[in-house]
Amino acid sequence: MMKEQHGSLTPPIYQTSTFVFPNAEAGEARFAGEESGYIYTRLGNPTLAIFEEQMAALEGAEAGLAFGSGMGAVSAVIIGLVKSGDHLVCSEGMYGCTFGLISMLKEKFNVEFTLVDMTNLEKVKEAIRPETKLLYIETPINPTIRVVDLKAISSLAKEHNMTTVVDNTFLSPYLQRPIELGCDVVLHSATKYIGGHGDVIAGVVCGSKEYITDLKRTSLKDIGAVLSPFDAWLLIRGLKTLPIRMEQHSASALKVAEFLEMHEKVTAVYYPGLPSFAQYELAKEQMNGSGGVISFELAGGKKEAQEFINRLNMIQIAVSLGDAESLIQHPASMTHACIPKEERERMGIIDSLIRLSVGLEEVEEIINDLKQALEG
Ligand SMILES: Cc1ncc(COP(=O)(O)O)c(C=O)c1O
Repeated sequence: MMKEQHGSLTPPIYQTSTFVFPNAEAGEARFAGEESGYIYTRLGNPTLAIFEEQMAALEGAEAGLAFGSGMGAVSAVIIGLVKSGDHLVCSEGMYGCTFGLISMLKEKFNVEFTLVDMTNLEKVKEAIRPETKLLYIETPINPTIRVVDLKAISSLAKEHNMTTVVDNTFLSPYLQRPIELGCDVVLHSATKYIGGHGDVIAGVVCGSKEYITDLKRTSLKDIGAVLSPFDAWLLIRGLKTLPIRMEQHSASALKVAEFLEMHEKVTAVYYPGLPSFAQYELAKEQMNGSGGVISFELAGGKKEAQEFINRLNMIQIAVSLGDAESLIQHPASMTHACIPKEERERMGIIDSLIRLSVGLEEVEEIINDLKQALEG
């Protein structure tokens, strides 16, 4: 492409909605799939294609497909794989809007779901029905940071002819590659670590060529959560620094988690890199690092959690994660507020739980800010 033409180091942004056909017959042939070539950006764009190829290579997948948001990717995948009367088994604990989506599918389209503690394989087996089509997994789960054994779950899914879908947002392919562990489809909110700079909303799905071709033809083309070429370019830029960012996020988060674990005001810390983490061995085997997200609990409830958050100076109060800046939020009243309280608490999202995305600042500064807010 342009690199060959002009030697441009970074790829060009094809900021175009449509592509001109040389003649009417070529237009007909492209629509019929008899001739390759771009048609219209919702159906494909060269800048998006570069990002998609990079993501597929990183995830060890045959193909990738970009979406205009993480939820665009989540909804396209789920809607594309189920029909009325089908059933999903999902990890107990998941991003609030994904829960919102499956609740809407149940209410309006008769797609049933069961939430199970996926750290217990027996419970997953018990939840499977003849009409179960897919296992939908987050690991580490947002925001409780429980880890699901992807090898064991994906081999169970194969026995039952089910598709395994993994939301890999929390770790990025640098730290976890579910397809290599036997899973079928991987998706991301690319808004987070893939972009890495808090300046883009995006999603991506990776899987087999056959699956991605079908997803593009159906869920992306007809539902239309398309990514803009400029945003694809920002993601390509983000990927250049993914390894060093993930190394730094993981190293800083471990120090922060160790500090929190030793503090008397902190009653629990959930971070896969801590030897005290319930699934430490599994996390070490399955992940190439623990990532930048820590959840922890303080004594008290919502009031105490909010007062603590309000005392922070440098760490910013914001949802999202994976940015250069450290971000803190209260899942029960923010990202997971749309889940009914009883369901939420069963998932472990209690009022005293706080989620921290450790950024790229000096780790001492992050720890000092937490310290003064805990002691204030
Ligand atoms: C695990 C996970 N999946 C999906 C999403 C949705 O992504 P987006 O906000 O890019 O639509 C989020 C957003 O926070 C998330 O944390």
